[in-house]
Amino acid sequence: MNRVILIQATIFLIFLLGCTHEPSLPPVKPVSSYKTVTPSCATCPTDLLCANVDDIVITTSTTFKACEPQPSGQGSFVMDPSFCYIWTPNGQQTDIVTTCIVACNGSICDSTYITIYPPMPVDTMPTGVPCKEDVIYFEKDVLPILNQSCAYTACHNTASAAEGVILDNYSKVISTGRVKPFNLSKSKIYEVITKNDPDDIMPPPPSPKLTTIQINIIAQWILQGAKNEMCDINSQPCNTVNISYATYIKPALASCTSCHRAGNAGGGINLDSYAGMKAAADNGRLYGSISWTPPYKTMPQGSAKLGDCTIKKIKSWIDAGAPNN
Ligand code: HEC
Repeated sequence: MNRVILIQATIFLIFLLGCTHEPSLPPVKPVSSYKTVTPSCATCPTDLLCANVDDIVITTSTTFKACEPQPSGQGSFVMDPSFCYIWTPNGQQTDIVTTCIVACNGSICDSTYITIYPPMPVDTMPTGVPCKEDVIYFEKDVLPILNQSCAYTACHNTASAAEGVILDNYSKVISTGRVKPFNLSKSKIYEVITKNDPDDIMPPPPSPKLTTIQINIIAQWILQGAKNEMCDINSQPCNTVNISYATYIKPALASCTSCHRAGNAGGGINLDSYAGMKAAADNGRLYGSISWTPPYKTMPQGSAKLGDCTIKKIKSWIDAGAPNN
């Protein structure tokens, strides 16, 4: 009998001791417990995203608060009657928002971290927004470097994901490349591309180190906030006045000469000499092939079409009589 009372008293004491502690903020959870919320359109003024704190019993007495300063300027959280925190983007979200919510019921608290990625659906990409010269764009400037040097098979493409790092799309570059917008020294991706130790540097030897120019592009992008702004490269001003054969046409079409030179003149076309280029310009085949106009063969053979601006410049030179200028 006494023993039972003793055990009960001990349990009660432990219980009391447990209760004397102030409810404290729960420990930060591992990244795997982050909830990721992505707005579903590019301008989501009314898209409501509900971040439920589901590890705790939610009753009318549950309280919620943000455990980190709430992100400002891109939207805001409000509590709705069904006890979930609603993130309402204001349509201008360009940064990654990571925030933490604490829900408390009596002395029991739990936290949920959520990361909200800016929207990037391809079908709503703005067209006609000219690229600004002083802005580094993720898709236009950063992604090609990562695709060339990091995001391939056995390394950091989505399928391989070496060490969990995926560098072939914006949200994964931010999360797994551990990019801290505006902060170079806290951005893991910047740290590893600038390491000197061959054991730590990325890409690892024997792959060549990124060039200074490439490193600067990534650095500038992070310092500008590691945003995912879009611009339309085709709406850049395209100067088609006074196009020179020597300084523009010849270098712009230099890659064609691998198949169009003396001794290897595909289709009988030699683009390695002015005379040959002039002939193809005059008979319409040059413009027909690069503008992919039927019935001409599409050139460059087996490769992507030349850029719109390049094609316009070549056309302007042809229209001017394809001079040897
Ligand atoms: C990989 C080799 C290769 C490359 C690179 C290449 N071509 Fe061609 N091109 C050919 C071959 C082969 C033909 C003949 C195709 C045929 O007749 O089926 C041809 C045909 C043409 C023709 C004649 C088309 C027609 O329908 O009359 C033009 C003009 C031409 N190429 C221009 C270019 C230009 C300009 C470039 C670079 C922007 C280029 N080519 C790059 C292989 C190439």
